Amino acid sequence: MVARVIEVDPFDLIVFGATGDLAHRKLLPALYHRDLDGQIPEDARIIACSRRDMSDEQYRAFADEAVREHVDDVEAPALERFLARLSYLAVDAAGTRGWPELAERLEGREDVVRAFYLAVSPDFFGTICKRIGEHDLTTDLARVVIEKPIGKDGASARALNAAIGEVFREDQIFRIDHYLGKETVQNLMALRFANALFEPLWNAAHIDHVQITVAESLGVEGRAGYYDTAGAMRDMVQNHILQLLCLVAMEPPESMDADSVRDEKLKVLKALKQMDAEMASKATVRGQYRAGASAGGAVRGYLEELDDPTSQTETFVAIKAEIANWRWANVPFYLRTGKRLAARVSEIVVQFRPIPHSIFETEAGAISSNRLVIRLQPDEGVRMQIMIKDPGPGGMRLRQVPLDMSFATAFKVRNPDAYERLIMDVIRGNQTLFMRRDEVEAAWAWVDPILEDWATLKDLPKGYTSGTWGPSAAIALIERDGRTWFEDLI
Ligand code: BG6
Repeated sequence: MVARVIEVDPFDLIVFGATGDLAHRKLLPALYHRDLDGQIPEDARIIACSRRDMSDEQYRAFADEAVREHVDDVEAPALERFLARLSYLAVDAAGTRGWPELAERLEGREDVVRAFYLAVSPDFFGTICKRIGEHDLTTDLARVVIEKPIGKDGASARALNAAIGEVFREDQIFRIDHYLGKETVQNLMALRFANALFEPLWNAAHIDHVQITVAESLGVEGRAGYYDTAGAMRDMVQNHILQLLCLVAMEPPESMDADSVRDEKLKVLKALKQMDAEMASKATVRGQYRAGASAGGAVRGYLEELDDPTSQTETFVAIKAEIANWRWANVPFYLRTGKRLAARVSEIVVQFRPIPHSIFETEAGAISSNRLVIRLQPDEGVRMQIMIKDPGPGGMRLRQVPLDMSFATAFKVRNPDAYERLIMDVIRGNQTLFMRRDEVEAAWAWVDPILEDWATLKDLPKGYTSGTWGPSAAIALIERDGRTWFEDLI
């Protein structure tokens, strides 16, 4: 069996935006964990860069605080060892300051993996890549890592991809969608392709519809500035939700090889039925949260938080998507995501069709169709709803029960954060869990017309009370088809 921890090759990881929120919350804690598990070799270095003036010691204090805040049970000697790998350099991404020093620090290490992690606003992606090119910092083993949002529409994504492509080859570009690093998302591939059970049934003949819900209980927190320019469609649907949809809907790839998987995902994105304004008005719902109660306390509405009563940015989206191919013809994919909903829960529900004929008397009870529920968070697990006979004497009584597999109960291992796998995959050069250029652009090609339709339709997002499941129109969207959102979510 493949070892649980495989040491990666020596590397230099250069993190731009090293004093930012992503580095604090995700990157430093993830790297600490990988180091703790012995995955990072002795000769690896992490070079933290940002505009601020800081000494190595000051940056190590920042990292120490980040790890202690975000990791339970920190082991002091391991943390010491990890901090010793860190050094700091003040680099002005857009200007000239710091670049010669960075070049000097990297000199003589052309034969180790060199990964540039751009944990900065996307506005800087192009400029930083340009500077990397100008200072001749790319090597054959160089890679660049960027985070979503990749553009705000197809045209800007193409421009950004082109700018990055001037400096890095496509096999050196790692576009992170952190949902792909989540354990249960990868499990979706194991479930589908390591079991013979599901694949023969995985099509329109046996599946009635699919629901994908990514619900958050938090609001926009301190990110209102960014969020208001994006909205739920750009922030969640264009990337995370469409990636989940692709993994559910794609054909079996030839192997786990990056391009085999990404080729199949691309075909799904291209097969998504484009929406004109009429279809968008029927098949999409936009919402915006109002004041209400969430996580046990009263919360303000989006407009109050933003302090702009005119914003029309959506904090909730529900969509009935359709995939125009043989496997999925007439099988709706109901997608929904939103902030300030009743709970933080992400689930994929695969609803099978009813049995063709019942041999049981009506008194035996109703026969519910099978349903497969893949829970991404929290309480990762897989549940299959099946019918059984209610135990005991008397007549035949049918009952629906869950075949339940909770990963926390089944495996006594810590559930690693998505970034742990993704950063190590960057170092290994494995792009399977990263988005390819054409995938990003194909996702925009489906999203762009919907955004345009919304602008044309001039229909404002519908208000919903914080702490609920979104606007009532989202319920109508699915109930009109004689179906309901799966409600056993909490
Ligand atoms: C990010 C979005 O990509 O994903 C955020 O920008 C969102 O708005 C977050 O809150 C959700 O991620 P997770 O891992 O907490 O489900």
